[in-house]
Amino acid sequence: MKKIKKISLFNRVTPIEHLESLSKQLEGPKIFIKRDDLTDAALGGNKVRKLEYILADALETGCDTIITTGGPQSNHARITAGVCAKLGLRCVLLLSGKKNVLEGNLLLDKIFGADVRFADSWDFDKIQKMMEELAKHLTEKGHKAYPVPVGGASGLGTMGYAECFSEILAQEKELNLEFDRIVVANGSGGTQAGLEIGKMENRSKKEILAMSVLFKKAKALEYVKKEIAEGYKVLGKNTPELNGIIIDDSYLGEGYAIPDERVIETIGLVGRSEGIILDPVYTGKAFGGLIDYIKCGKISKNENILFIHTSGYPGIVNMTEKHKIYFEKF
Ligand SMILES: Cc1ncc(COP(=O)(O)O)c(C=O)c1O
Repeated sequence: MKKIKKISLFNRVTPIEHLESLSKQLEGPKIFIKRDDLTDAALGGNKVRKLEYILADALETGCDTIITTGGPQSNHARITAGVCAKLGLRCVLLLSGKKNVLEGNLLLDKIFGADVRFADSWDFDKIQKMMEELAKHLTEKGHKAYPVPVGGASGLGTMGYAECFSEILAQEKELNLEFDRIVVANGSGGTQAGLEIGKMENRSKKEILAMSVLFKKAKALEYVKKEIAEGYKVLGKNTPELNGIIIDDSYLGEGYAIPDERVIETIGLVGRSEGIILDPVYTGKAFGGLIDYIKCGKISKNENILFIHTSGYPGIVNMTEKHKIYFEKF
C-alpha cells in the first residue's frame, strides 16, 4: 500500500490476547481481542491511529491550531485535546449541544487544556461549517487552523485502520493462526472504512462485522462507503466495487450512548471473566452483539474471532444508577 506521511503517537503493534475464560464460558468460537485501548496517547483508543495521519498533514502544512468536534462526551475530542497538548498545538473543541456537566471526557478535555466551546447545535454538517468559519477567523488573526471532521472521519483518518489491518495480518503469522472474522463498533464509520480498505488492498477474505452504535444500517453504510472512497483518493487510486460490507444495527437499542441491559451484562461478563473494561457506548454494545451472534449460533465453534477494543472508558459516565445496581449483585 502507498506510504502516507504520519507521526507516531503510540508504541507500535497493540497486543492481541486470547479471551480463554470467556470463550470457554460461551462454549463457542475462540475469541481474541486486539487491545487498541492500549494506544498510549491520552488514555488511548481508535482515534489515535487516525490522528497519526491527520495531524501529520496539519503539521506539514504549518498549522498551529486544531479545531474539531464531537458530542460533549466525545472520545475523539478528548484524544485530540491530549495529543495537541503533547505536540504543543492549540486545540479548540466546538462540541455539539449546550454547556454540559464537567465529567468524563469533557473534564479530561479541560485537563488537557483545550479551548472548549459549545455549538448549540447537534447538526454536524452545520458544525463543520462553523469550524471552517472559525478556522478562517483564526487565520485572519495570524494563526493557521486545521478543522478535523467529527470522529476524525476523513480519507486521511481511514489510513489508520487500513494500516491496522496489515498489522493484524502480520500478527496472525506470529501467532500461527487465522482470524475468520473481525468484529468492531461502527460510529462515524472511519474505523470500519479503514479496515475495509486494508482488507481490499491485502486481497483478504476475512469477514468484517461492524455493529452500528450510532446510525441505522442504511445511513451507516452510506458513511462507510463515502469514507472508503475518500481513503482511496488519499491513496491515489480508484475505489473498487464495494460489495459485502457488513453492518448490523440490531444492537443499537434506544440509540447512541443509551446502554441497554445487554450492554451492562456484557461489560460485567467481560470484566469478571477477563479483567478487561468495555465502555457502555461503543465496545460494550458491539461485544454484546458478538455474544448474541455466538448464542444464536450465527458464528460456528470452529471460528477464530478478533474483536477490536477501541476503548472509550470515560463513557462509563453514561451508566445510570439503574445500571450500577446490576453490579451490586456480585
Ligand atoms: C471508543 C470508540 N469506539 C468506536 C468508535 C467508532 O469509530 P468510528 O467513528 O471510526 O466508527 C468510536 C468513535 O468515536 C469510539 O470513540
